[in-house]
Amino acid sequence: KRKLILDVDTGTDDAVAIMLAALHEDLDLIGVTTVNGNAELHYCTDNSLRVLDYIGKPEIPVYAGCPKPLVRNDFPVPRTKNDLTEKIHGKHLPLPETALKAQEQHAVEYLVETYRNATDPITLVPVAPLTNIAAALAAEPKLVDLIPEVVIMGGGHDVGNVTPAAEFNIWADPEAAYAVFNAGFEKLTMVPLDATHKALVTATQCRQFDELGTPAGKAMAACTGHRIGIHDKIQKMDVEHSAPVHDALCIAHLIQPEVITLEECPVDIETQGALTVGRTVVDKNRRGSKPVNCKVAFDANAQLFVDIMMETFAKNK
Ligand code: BDR
Ligand code: CA
Repeated sequence: KRKLILDVDTGTDDAVAIMLAALHEDLDLIGVTTVNGNAELHYCTDNSLRVLDYIGKPEIPVYAGCPKPLVRNDFPVPRTKNDLTEKIHGKHLPLPETALKAQEQHAVEYLVETYRNATDPITLVPVAPLTNIAAALAAEPKLVDLIPEVVIMGGGHDVGNVTPAAEFNIWADPEAAYAVFNAGFEKLTMVPLDATHKALVTATQCRQFDELGTPAGKAMAACTGHRIGIHDKIQKMDVEHSAPVHDALCIAHLIQPEVITLEECPVDIETQGALTVGRTVVDKNRRGSKPVNCKVAFDANAQLFVDIMMETFAKNK
């Protein structure tokens, strides 16, 4: 079984990533760390606990992390009441309340301690602003060598979702993203919007998830159904009545690597630009001098993605 830690800002698509990571038989989700992002930290933590409780995995520990970006006091444009992110995710997931509590230990301490003491490889999957990961690297620079593989949901080459130039996870904490992308990880994979916008889940498939009748099937239908409703109103996708489920695509890739198509690229992060802050600058055509630092997903197989989730969520009795 492949061990992993998932860093989340749960969130309707993080919820699906947690379920897939917690339930797939090839994966061993050893811990969930939470960070400020889709909602304020305490909502993201509570939502993560709700998911684990609902699918019968209360033993997986959740650690709350950083409540604000690494060096900024807030996002480049502070969260407001009419915020798009809040429309897509809400504060609370459409799942029952839970009595589960987060661990006492801070997520950053947990990351540092776990990787220092690891005897098996543990893949790190951040699907949220990269604050916790950058803070952990600052606390223990050796993490670059101790973390064997990092798979990030973030960025966009052809497409932005929070500004014309930037994707939310990178934009929300550009300095943290800069630190992570330039840390020198041996194996770094970036799953940007270019790929996640190909891995769409439709309303019809949502009904099929619901009909599985399992907790995970029903939670998938509720979370993704909500996403489709919002996308239909404010950001129509290429397939009618559909939505991306970004974060879960990283987990699907751990299960079946071919669900995304990867290309090696130099990638850097814009931390300053008035119009482009948080942009992932992907040097596809090698115009700059930066060496390759990561693999970037430009395409995804939507049917395979849905099949992986359908099969996994069907078994959640
Ligand atoms: C990313 O931003 C968040 O809103 C989602 O959970 C996902 O991680 C997509 O841009
Ligand atoms: Ca997320």
